[in-house]
Amino acid sequence: MQKQTRGASLKTLIINGSPRKNGDTAALLDVLKAALKGEITEISAYYDKISPCIDCRACWKTGKCVIKDRMELIYDDDFDNVIIASPVHMSNLPGPLISLAGRFQAHYASGKFLGAVPKLKCKNGALILVGGGDGAADKAIASAKWMFKAMNAKLDDEAVILSLNTNNAAAIEDEEAIQKVRNVTIKLNREAN
Ligand SMILES: Cc1cc2nc3c(=O)[nH]c(=O)nc-3n(C[C@H](O)[C@H](O)[C@H](O)COP(=O)(O)O)c2cc1C
Repeated sequence: MQKQTRGASLKTLIINGSPRKNGDTAALLDVLKAALKGEITEISAYYDKISPCIDCRACWKTGKCVIKDRMELIYDDDFDNVIIASPVHMSNLPGPLISLAGRFQAHYASGKFLGAVPKLKCKNGALILVGGGDGAADKAIASAKWMFKAMNAKLDDEAVILSLNTNNAAAIEDEEAIQKVRNVTIKLNREAN
């Protein structure tokens, strides 16, 4: 997990689904991070040792997850923006990111079994997906949208940024995707004011 602060009180959570620390996802995130104001908390689905949900069902009784790890930062829900940035793996989000998403079961159980749907802060979302070029990213987008919903983050169409030809050209050479990242960053900065 990385934390970086620049000026204002805007708080952004980045959930990084890439195993490659200097890969295509990282390159587009660097563009975003260079211009984004405020405090940035980045969680890596691969390297932050976030346990999968083990279906212990403690959350059925308390609405809370008993596992103590960096998922607690996400549960704390103290963010204005949430960015999911990830490669496409097997036409979907990579396994560790899907595994992290399973931890939102605590929110579901709270609503389902305790009648206490968590009151989550309304956030702005942005999705950055990179892919080699093998097929559509529809399933990955659908999975990411499920995660945004679980975090009460709205995702506008222009905040979905795709670079899906990285087998032939690295994402950092994808000028359209880079411009979209810059535009979304401006919007995220502005909406926080
Ligand atoms: C296990 C695995 C599965 C992949 N599956 C797909 C896929 O279904 N569709 C696709 O377009 N690219 C697929 N790729 C390619 C990656 O999405 C692509 O190389 C991406 O740019 C890597 O991003 P990163 O450098 O941020 O990790 C796959 C790569 C791996 C390692």
